[in-house]
Amino acid sequence: MDADAFHAQVVDQYSQHINPALAKLMNFAGFGVEVRGEGCYLFDHEGRQYLDCLGSYGVFSLGHRHPKVVEAVTAQLNALPMSGKVFFNPRQAELATRLAAISPNGLELCFFSNSGAEAVEAALKFAKGATGRTKIISTIGSFHGKTLGTLSVTGREKYRRMFDPLMPGAEFVRFPSPQEGASAWSEMVNAIDSDTAAVILETVQGEGGIHLAAPGALPAIRAKTREVGALMIVDEVQTGMGRTGRLFGCDHEGIEPDIMTLAKALGGGVMPIGATLFTESVGSAIFSENPLMHTSTFGGNPLACAAAIATLDVIEAEGLCERARLMGERMMAGLREMQSRHSDLVSEVRGIGLMIGVEFSMDEVGELVIAQMTKRGVIAAYTLNNPRVIRIEPPLIINEAQVDEAVRVFDEAITETGELLAMIA
Ligand SMILES: Cc1ncc(COP(=O)(O)O)c(C=O)c1O
Repeated sequence: MDADAFHAQVVDQYSQHINPALAKLMNFAGFGVEVRGEGCYLFDHEGRQYLDCLGSYGVFSLGHRHPKVVEAVTAQLNALPMSGKVFFNPRQAELATRLAAISPNGLELCFFSNSGAEAVEAALKFAKGATGRTKIISTIGSFHGKTLGTLSVTGREKYRRMFDPLMPGAEFVRFPSPQEGASAWSEMVNAIDSDTAAVILETVQGEGGIHLAAPGALPAIRAKTREVGALMIVDEVQTGMGRTGRLFGCDHEGIEPDIMTLAKALGGGVMPIGATLFTESVGSAIFSENPLMHTSTFGGNPLACAAAIATLDVIEAEGLCERARLMGERMMAGLREMQSRHSDLVSEVRGIGLMIGVEFSMDEVGELVIAQMTKRGVIAAYTLNNPRVIRIEPPLIINEAQVDEAVRVFDEAITETGELLAMIA
C-alpha cells in the first residue's frame, strides 16, 4: 500500500470506529500518520521527520524510545510483565522507595495507577476520606483530568457542563499567577477554611495556558491549609520529572504537600503509569481499617514500574533537570527575541524550564502558526483551556542546535501567518 492510501485508510478507520468529528478535524489540519519515534523526533507515514516540541503534552521528557528505558522494559517483558497480584512485587517496591526518597519530605507512601486522571482521582478520594470533609478548592483554567471525579475539579466549564451534576463540593478560584495579581492569591488563601478537605493545584498551570504561580503564593497556601487542617494536593502530572528545571515544580519553593500526583513523563515515554504520593497520616486514615480501600488491577504493573525506575536513573545520569533549565533559558531567550520583532501578534512569552507558553494577541493566530510549524517539521500545540497560547514542551534531552531550529521555525511560521492575515484583512 502506498503512503497516501495508508493515510486514507487510517483516517477512514478513525472516522468509522474512533471519533468521526476528531478525524475530520485532524484531517483538515493536514496531520499525517505517526509510525516511528526516536530521540527528539517523530516520523510520519511518508518518512518525514518532525522535531517533537509537544512531546505528547510532556510525556516524552526522555525523548522517544530512550534506550535505557526500552532495555529495562524488554528485560521485564521477558521475566514477568504483569503482576499476579498475590505476591509482593519487587519492581513496585523499588519504585515506591525511590519516589519516597526523591519527593518532598513527608510523602512516604505511594499508590500506583495508569494515568494522570487516575492519580488525581485517588488524591481526591484520599483527601475526602482522610479529612471527612467535602469541599475541594481548585483553580479556574486548571486541568486535572476528564473522569467524573477529576472533571469535578477541572476548571473549565465547557468540559463539565454536559455531565452535571458532578462530585459536589468543588469550588473554583483564580490561579494565583502574576497576571491575575495579588488579589487572586488572597482570594485563594481566604477560600481555604475549616470545611475544606483540600486545595488542588498545578505548580504551573499547563492546559490553562502555562501560568506560573506568583512567588510566595504556594507557601502562603501551604501555610493556610496547615492552619485549618486542610490538605494540599499538588498535581505534578505535567510539571513533574524535571520539566520545570527541578525534579518537581513544588521543589522551586520547597513546598511539602500532603499529596502529590505524577504520570506522563514518569513512564519514560515507553509505558503509561500514574502515581499518587501521600503522607503516612493520609495513608493510615484510608487504608488502616481496609487495606483494599482503593485498588487498581494494572496499577503498579512490573513493566510500568521497570520503565519508571529506568526513567529516574536516566534523569539523574543525564542531568536532565539542569538540562531543562539551560535549554529552557535558551529557548525562552530566542522566543523573546522573536517576540520583539512580532509584537503585533505575540503578546507574551513565559514559562519555566522546558514548559514554555507563547501567547498571541488574537485567538486564530495559534492555529495558523501551528499549521505552519508542522509544515516546516516542528510539532507544537495550543493549550487545551487557552487556544491563544502555544505550548512548547520538547524532550529534556533536546540540544542547542535543536532549540535554535525550533525558534527559527517558530519565527518563520509567525512571519508567514502575519503575511496571510495582512492579505485577508
Ligand atoms: C496537570 C494534569 N493533571 C492531570 C492530567 C490528566 O492526565 P491523563 O490525561 O493522563 O489522564 C493532565 C493531562 O494533561 C494534566 O496536565
